[in-house]
Amino acid sequence: MLSDTNNKRAQFSTKIGVIATAVGSAVGLGNIWRFPYEAGSNGGGAFMLCYIFFIFLLGVPLICAEFIVGRSTRSNEIKAFEKLAPGKKWFLNGYIGVLASILILSFYSVVAGWTLEFFIAAVTGRMPSDMSELHDFFSEFISGNWRPLVWTVVFLLLNYLVVSRGVQKGIERLSNCLMPAMTLLLIAFCVNSLFLPGASEGVGFLFSPDFSKIDSHSLLSAMGQAFFSLSIGLGGMLTYASYFPDEVRLGRCATTTAVLDTFVAILAGVIIFPAVFTYGISPQSGPTLVFETLPAIFMNLPGGAIWAALFFFLLFMASITSTISMSEISIAYFEEEKKLCRKKATALTIGIATVLGAICALSFGPLSDIRFFGMTVFELFDYVSSNVCLPVGGMVTSVFVGWVIDRKIIDRQLNIRTNSLPWVKLLIFILRYIAPAAIALIFLNSLGII
Ligand code: PFF
Repeated sequence: MLSDTNNKRAQFSTKIGVIATAVGSAVGLGNIWRFPYEAGSNGGGAFMLCYIFFIFLLGVPLICAEFIVGRSTRSNEIKAFEKLAPGKKWFLNGYIGVLASILILSFYSVVAGWTLEFFIAAVTGRMPSDMSELHDFFSEFISGNWRPLVWTVVFLLLNYLVVSRGVQKGIERLSNCLMPAMTLLLIAFCVNSLFLPGASEGVGFLFSPDFSKIDSHSLLSAMGQAFFSLSIGLGGMLTYASYFPDEVRLGRCATTTAVLDTFVAILAGVIIFPAVFTYGISPQSGPTLVFETLPAIFMNLPGGAIWAALFFFLLFMASITSTISMSEISIAYFEEEKKLCRKKATALTIGIATVLGAICALSFGPLSDIRFFGMTVFELFDYVSSNVCLPVGGMVTSVFVGWVIDRKIIDRQLNIRTNSLPWVKLLIFILRYIAPAAIALIFLNSLGII
């Protein structure tokens, strides 16, 4: 095991640990909470197909791009761009990433806080089993004045405790055991959902695409969801790769991460939609969809409270393995550029996220009237970070790796000795032409500019 002591930069210790942490960053609320509600609001099956298309066409190449920049520089995001293109303005992309990571951390922690409320409610027997009572329970909770706020702060404090202990000890150990447990539980719930009365309708909603439901906004949302889910576009994977050992094969790690991440999102869809149709919930309920649907599934199972407690505990854990990677983006920046010690850098990041998170937490209740472009603060943060910052960040990184950095660096990072391997050529082609053009087209189209 390598340590993060002295002037030696921290590194993950094992290859399996690297995959587990990359997957740990990718798999989180994005798969289980955000994917189903985005799919539900954007027409189901067609959205899912677009999402999968973006994961593999743009997502995998962009993870590789972030990995290459991160590992070749072994620096925080801003320094990484600066090292590879000294004296140029590319480092500005790093600032967008740091900013977006704090925005995401703040609204994400609110939802992670909800998982804690549900966990405690299940453990203490407060979780109702009747559908309408469940609905009231949840609405009363999120519109309350203090509980959502308290849970957001508690979650951020727990995140602080893990992250301030350092990269290796905190992150790696947690990820290694929790992700497999989470996946097994999801598979079990998936099988259960397939026996619900609304199963065929739910599965049909998810697997029979109706492309008339797709417009430029849903395309942008599918792309934003793919980026969000893979933790790309703001430097999440870049920052993690700066801690990867040299032996890790970046291409393989990127593909494994994308496949597992997509698998979990589809499992979540197969769990949620049969229940949505069984219990008469609207697929378009938005951010609250999963939190109204899941308890209904659990509470109708024998020993429901135990299932609910187990599930919300694991969802909380999946959230924390993602938030530690988001936090790491700005912590690495504050540590290395602003010369703060790790504890101070972590405290500053979590402090800013707590203030912003508090506003997001209250935007379902007391602050719900504060709206920008018709969106609450929570929705605004989500929209701006996922549908603006991530695509823009992804596009810049793609152009940067495709056009700016030396081909030798790419080959070395991908462990390539002959430069004729077809997959590397394809990767560079996508990074140079396809990704920037696709992102720009979808982005401008959704703004109504073209
Ligand atoms: N990929 C995470 C999820 O799907 O929950 C969210 C995320 C993590 C986004 C880390 C960005 C990031 F840097």
